[in-house]
Amino acid sequence: MPHVLSATDMPAAELLRRAEAWRQRLTENATPPIQPKAALVALLFYEPSTRTRAAFEQACVLLGYHPLVITVEASSIVKGESLQDTVRTLNAQGVRAIVIRHPHSGAPQLAAQVSHTPILNAGDGAHEHPTQALLDLYTLWLHYGKPDPTTQWLSGRKMAIVGDIRHSRVARSNLTLLTRAGAEVWLCAPPTLQPDAPLQNAHLTSDASEAVRDADVVMALRLQTERMAQGLLPSLNAYRRDYQLNTPRLQLAKPDCVVMHPGPIQRGVEIADEVADGARSLILTQVQNGVYVRAAVLEYALEEK
Ligand code: NCD
Repeated sequence: MPHVLSATDMPAAELLRRAEAWRQRLTENATPPIQPKAALVALLFYEPSTRTRAAFEQACVLLGYHPLVITVEASSIVKGESLQDTVRTLNAQGVRAIVIRHPHSGAPQLAAQVSHTPILNAGDGAHEHPTQALLDLYTLWLHYGKPDPTTQWLSGRKMAIVGDIRHSRVARSNLTLLTRAGAEVWLCAPPTLQPDAPLQNAHLTSDASEAVRDADVVMALRLQTERMAQGLLPSLNAYRRDYQLNTPRLQLAKPDCVVMHPGPIQRGVEIADEVADGARSLILTQVQNGVYVRAAVLEYALEEK
């Protein structure tokens, strides 16, 4: 029974192929016939979410499972039930898998220790967001014409991730998958939003020009104010000036550079409207691919082996 807890433990090449099969199936027929199962998959969300939750819900529907969405406010969690006891409860009722989003790093790992069904990490604190990294990888894989995913197919490509690296689980999981595929990854943040410890295999800089120059891919990240200790960002205007992904900054990148963002985007802060909505933007493609990738991951986790 495979859990999907981190980018490191995912069979990325296999999952890219599965996601591609889902894309093709849904391109042929956007509402394919399904065989509903009398079974639930729980989506345990301890933090807000729009696209990740909607994609996992859709993945459940596509696979014939009913998505049972549990949010903190409407559950026994507010009565003091521990994460482990919530997981034991859902296991006792026979749910087939549990998707968890949690503000604390390591929560899905903790859940996996007591769960008899697969745990899928939908983002834990500033730690990991493996399915987001997989959908970003899938988006690039399609963009570059579906090269053999078992090779170093991103070798020779420069990828710049710019923004609140310190609090970003997306940056961490992406770093794992992108470097494994051979990309040169640059992480760029103001000094106060850089990680405490160096991240392996990444170039770290506070100079956005250095990060973006000659990049093939630039990913902007949201400022995660909900995780930010007061005062980490003295001035939003200075942040815009030095780090916002706008047209002049993007001109430093390769002419065929593409722009990504995991969402939610804060227009006019980390990314300018003209870039978010521009011809190089893959942002909505990422969102769409999120459905195929979640269907692929759920199918993999639930497959009878
Ligand atoms: C991100 C998240 O929640 O980790 N969004 C997402 O899942 N697509 C990034 C963010 O919150 O900024």
